Amino acid sequence: MANVAIIGAQWGDEGKGKVVDWLASRADIVVRFQGGHNAGHTLVVGNQTYKLSLLPSGVVRGKLGIIGNGVVLDPDALLSEIAKVQAQGLEVGPHNLRIAENTPLILPLHSAIDKAREMARGKNAIGTTGRGIGPAYEDKVARRAIRLCDLAEPETVSHKLDELLLHHNTLLAGLGAETFAKQDLLEKILGWAPKLLPFAEAVWERLDQARHDGKRVMFEGAQAVMLDVDHGTYPFVTSSNTVAGNAAAGAGIGPHAIGTVLGIAKAYTTRVGSGPFPTELFDDTGKLLGERGHEFGTVTGRPRRCGWFDACLVRQAVKVGGVQGLVLTKLDVLDGLPELKICTGYEINGELVKRLPAAMAAQAAAKPVYETIEGWSGSTRGARSWAALPAQAIKYVRRIEELVEAPVTLLSTSPERDDTITVSDPFAG
Ligand code: IMP
Repeated sequence: MANVAIIGAQWGDEGKGKVVDWLASRADIVVRFQGGHNAGHTLVVGNQTYKLSLLPSGVVRGKLGIIGNGVVLDPDALLSEIAKVQAQGLEVGPHNLRIAENTPLILPLHSAIDKAREMARGKNAIGTTGRGIGPAYEDKVARRAIRLCDLAEPETVSHKLDELLLHHNTLLAGLGAETFAKQDLLEKILGWAPKLLPFAEAVWERLDQARHDGKRVMFEGAQAVMLDVDHGTYPFVTSSNTVAGNAAAGAGIGPHAIGTVLGIAKAYTTRVGSGPFPTELFDDTGKLLGERGHEFGTVTGRPRRCGWFDACLVRQAVKVGGVQGLVLTKLDVLDGLPELKICTGYEINGELVKRLPAAMAAQAAAKPVYETIEGWSGSTRGARSWAALPAQAIKYVRRIEELVEAPVTLLSTSPERDDTITVSDPFAG
């Protein structure tokens, strides 16, 4: 089985939508293995634009989509996303969407807690999407989460709600936020049962069968390595493991079945939310990157912070994420800039280091060490072969490959699906 996992190699929003769509069109099954409706990407298929947050992108390509147990699932968000794409003419049902029965659910109280806590953090806020992702993962690890399979057992839901409300209402009251009444929540949750249970199954069995049948599976990551709860810029991270290794645990397969791991990175860097960002630009170049790259969050609409390509950071993401090939996107945004900078390391308290350290103050103190590279005057937009690229643009890409210690497998040169330079076929194994 030649499988592929694709993960973000920076802080998310690397332009995964187009590449994931291209890969999905070549796969049989597409699996989401972490995150929730904090993710978001736009897929353009024919004359339809789909904005997906939870649905695995394969669904719009007529493939089987699977939501793995590593995801935290907001039933209302899923049902409204299904209704939205159905209104666009796409059929979504148990025939093309399966959800792991052991997937934890996001309840209304999770986003209430998320928002109340962010508010209480004031200027130290993480800048979460406010969708209850963190609190839902906390409940999973604390062994009190309501999971999809529980919807078939009203008694189980009722008992779990007692424990959940004891915990969350205490916290909400302490934060000065509104508390939740058990009966209201119970009715809401049990109301989801007939709509969601038809999608539920032991997806590990289906994936095992797919392996036996030689089907191609794509594991679709959300967020990115620098937002990984262990390896990212903690605490300014999301609450799941975003590295490719988590595709195994988050879907219910063995580590050997993940296949080729691709890491996706922009030719520059962006970040939404708070946290360290050594190469962030506060000048006109930063503004230009934001405008040209249309850098606004898909989920929250927040403007993204922009900066130079950080090769030191991406190299780290390549190592901890197990990235074997890089997908470089948005090279065209750099067209016409007279010179470009690539960060090759950091100066921290007078010392040169080649990795972003784990400690908070050290991360905040990291000053980028740059090498400068001449820009190019021609256009890279829409290029479909190396020959169509200006020589200096190729030099920039080659330098990135050297510094991050991974080859470029795919180079995306515009939002159009076919404007891609394919160096090697990721499904070739
Ligand atoms: P949470 O995932 O909502 O808890 O947010 C935690 C951090 O992850 C915040 O900085 C968010 O901006 C960031 N984040 C979550 N999802 C995405 C995404 O899909 N793209 C980029 N950043 C994200």
